Amino acid sequence: MSNHIDRRGFLVSVGAAAGAAATAGLTGGALGAVGQSQAGGAGVGARRAGRVCAISSANGVQTVAKAVERIRAGVDPALAVVEGVGIAEADPNDKTVGLGGRPNELGIVELDASVMHGPTHKAGSVASIQNIMHPAQVALKVLQYTDHVMIVGDGARKFAIAHGFKEEDLLTEETRQEWMRWRRHRSDIDDWLTDSQMDWKPDGTRPLTNAEKRAEIEERSAGTIHCSVVTPAGDLAGCTTTSGLAYKIPGRVGDSPIIGAGLFTDNEVGSAGATGRGEEAIQSCGAHSVVMEMAGGKDPTEACLAVLKKVADRVRRQRRLVDERGRPNFNLVLYAVRKDGAYGSACMIEGREFAVDDGNGARREKCAFLFEAR
Ligand code: GLY
Repeated sequence: MSNHIDRRGFLVSVGAAAGAAATAGLTGGALGAVGQSQAGGAGVGARRAGRVCAISSANGVQTVAKAVERIRAGVDPALAVVEGVGIAEADPNDKTVGLGGRPNELGIVELDASVMHGPTHKAGSVASIQNIMHPAQVALKVLQYTDHVMIVGDGARKFAIAHGFKEEDLLTEETRQEWMRWRRHRSDIDDWLTDSQMDWKPDGTRPLTNAEKRAEIEERSAGTIHCSVVTPAGDLAGCTTTSGLAYKIPGRVGDSPIIGAGLFTDNEVGSAGATGRGEEAIQSCGAHSVVMEMAGGKDPTEACLAVLKKVADRVRRQRRLVDERGRPNFNLVLYAVRKDGAYGSACMIEGREFAVDDGNGARREKCAFLFEAR
């Protein structure tokens, strides 16, 4: 195990303070202040208490900058995260979210999103929604205007239209061509010709190199955008939005819209989210587990690593998901921000980055990791 940061002594005292604050029914910035006094000026919590922080997946540098800008302008943290991830949802070049997201196996873009508001502990989410570019905004409407948490499929689309959202085809020319290529290479026992079977290639079609094939496999389950924030007053919110696993079975729902899996926010403790192989974030209650690890005293990075370790231990029971050394053959990335503004992220396999703006400008940092790259 690498990059294991041992700040347990300090953090246990913050965790205890969190529990005491929760038991006493304290709200808002109370914990930040308690954490600060307990820490006595030593450690991440003390250094950052009272400051804004936004953390996101690596595709969220603009997202964290926008979220921090909106929080500083006095906007509610849930609105700030939804506005922040909206940049990626509208970007046709981000093939893992919103417009230009990779489609399901039928060539239809199906989106999942969730948002959670710490101060009210209310969540909203949509799953398998089609033709709506900003599913996170629809999830926010579920949160604000309904007594429900999750609306799926055609119901979600109709709910969005009722709220004035515009329907549009989210497949771009580039993702359409990639999908058709995937379709042609899916099987040797159908009537589609693979690149190497084609006799006539007027458009210059050529077989992928092995490196391109590896990148395609890796990219299939990568992507998604998560963003968690804490305000200077210690209020939290989080949002996760995705087009999900590329070429998925229609109706497949990943972790992103599932509260506790791809997103969980507890205003007394922190907020966390996941990107990568959603099935494992679901089966480990990933984001909820990270927040619970923080409540137990771990710092955000330690909390993410602890959950990844559990995932890696459990997944050995499914042989197709591990390599010859018993290590997971997929990536999963966890992100967390604590109520005092401390932040951290970890990935299963070395090499991922995350985006953060803790008041010192938006930037990328390297994730801690559980396993070195092969
Ligand atoms: N983590 C995104 C998904 O699996 O759909």
